[in-house]
Amino acid sequence: MARIIDIKADRQTALEAGCAALAGGFAIAIPTETVYGLAADATNPAAITRIYETKGRPRFNPLICHMADLAMAEAYAEFDPISRALAEAFWPGPLTLVLPLKSGTAIHALATAGLDSVGIRIPKGFTGDLIRAFGRPLAAPSANTSGKVSATSAAHVEADLGAKIPLILDAGASTVGVESTIVKVENGELRLLRPGGLPAKEIERVAGKRLLRSKKASAAIEAPGMLASHYAPGAAVRLEATALEPGEALIAFGPDRVAGAEQAAIALNLSPRGDLSEAAANLFDYMKKADASGAAVIAFSPIPDEGLGEAINDRLRRAAAPRE
Ligand code: TXA
Ligand code: MG
Repeated sequence: MARIIDIKADRQTALEAGCAALAGGFAIAIPTETVYGLAADATNPAAITRIYETKGRPRFNPLICHMADLAMAEAYAEFDPISRALAEAFWPGPLTLVLPLKSGTAIHALATAGLDSVGIRIPKGFTGDLIRAFGRPLAAPSANTSGKVSATSAAHVEADLGAKIPLILDAGASTVGVESTIVKVENGELRLLRPGGLPAKEIERVAGKRLLRSKKASAAIEAPGMLASHYAPGAAVRLEATALEPGEALIAFGPDRVAGAEQAAIALNLSPRGDLSEAAANLFDYMKKADASGAAVIAFSPIPDEGLGEAINDRLRRAAAPRE
C-alpha cells in the first residue's frame, strides 16, 4: 500500500522520500495545481515503463516532462520567441509547451514516444521544489487508471492506484482541477493541442495571435493521448441536459433549477454562482461522487464554452464518447 505524506505537515520528509523513490526508479503520485501526476524519472526507461504498467495504458504516448524552472527547461528544449514569451508569462502554471527536443539530452525516448519534440510544463508549488531537489525532469501523466477520471486529491489516487505505488505526496485538492493547456508553435502559427487549465484567450493575449484549433483527424496523432473515451466514469454520461430522467445523477452548473432534480440519485452543482474556475476545480471529484451513487447515467447541465468552459466541455465530450 502507498505511504501517504502530507506535505503541509512534513515537507522535508516528503521531499526526501520523494527523491529516494524516484531515484529507485519508482513511479509515485505528485500533487500539481491541475491534477495529481504519476511521476517517474524521465531519463530512466525502467521507471517510465512503470508509469504505463501502473496506469494500465495500452500504448506508449508522449508524456509531459515536468521541470523545476525555465533554466532547466532550456537545457532540454529549443525555445522560439513566442514559446519563450508564454513560458515567462505563465510558468509555473497550467500550460504545457511542445518544443523541439535538443539532441543528446538525457530525456529517454520512452518519455517522448520517440518524437523529436517534448512537452514541457513547470508546475506550481511543492512539485517544482521536488524536481529541483531531484535534479532531473519528471515524466508524469495524470495519476489514474487509463481511460478513467483523473485524480484531483490524494484520496482519489489512493482509491485508484494505492495498491500499486509506493508513495503519494499529498498537497490537498488540486486548485485548477483540469489538466494543463497544451500548445505548440509551428511555422510561426500557434496551435492548441489540448484545451486545459489556462484559458485560450489568455494565451492569445500574450502571444498576440490566434490559437488555431485543429479539427482534422491528425490531431489524434499530434496529441496521441487525446483519444475519444477518456476521462470516463463507470456510468454513462448525458450532456446538455435541461431536465432529468428518473434515477439519473445530476451534475448541474449555475443558478438555474433543473426540472426533475428532486428525483435525482444525487444532485451536485459544479458552481451554483456559475463560476467556471470553481466548476473546473470540482469537475473530476463530482464525476467520481456521481458515479459512486450507482446511477446508470450522469446528466450534465449545459456549460458555456468560454474560458475554462472549453476544457470542461472537452473532458465532458470525451467522458460521453462511445467506450472502446
Ligand atoms: O496537467 C497536466 O498536464 C498533467 C499534470 C500531471 O501535469 N499531466 C498530463 O500529462 O496530463 P500527460 O502525460 O497525460 O499528457 C500527455 C499529452 C499527450 O497525450 C499529448 O497530447 C501531449 O501531452 N504531448 C506530450 N508530448 C507531446 C509531444 N512531443 N508532441 C505532441 N503532444 C505531446
Ligand atoms: Mg490523463
